[in-house]
Amino acid sequence: MDREADDLARLAGRAEEHRQLAGFIERYSAAARQGDAAQLVLLLEQVSDYARSHHQEEERLMAFFGYPALQAHRDAHRKLSALIAELLFKLRASEAPAVAQTESMLRGWFNQHLRGPDADLHAFLAERFGNAQKK
Ligand SMILES: [Fe+2]
Ligand SMILES: [Fe+2]
Repeated sequence: MDREADDLARLAGRAEEHRQLAGFIERYSAAARQGDAAQLVLLLEQVSDYARSHHQEEERLMAFFGYPALQAHRDAHRKLSALIAELLFKLRASEAPAVAQTESMLRGWFNQHLRGPDADLHAFLAERFGNAQKK
């Protein structure tokens, strides 16, 4: 695969990864409704691992293409990592109110990030690839 095709595949992979993350959050919501704290910890650990590699890849793409809003987007990823770490801490400490809060916090953050920084990045990358293909 040449580099451009490889990068296009990576772009397509972004959407698939976002669906995967949305799937984790759906399962998380179901576990939260059941008040299953042990399952919530497991799922949040999976979200944490998956988000970390997803964010690294996004940041690599942003750096490679000289994305102007890289720093702000990276800061948003750091905030999510901090939020996940905080939620995991609370869940492990079995703080009952945390179980109810974590679901809405996680879902709220995810939706806001997807519609904001991620949508902007995807528009930027699509524009770059679109222009490259017209040449
Ligand atoms: Fe993303
Ligand atoms: Fe992102």
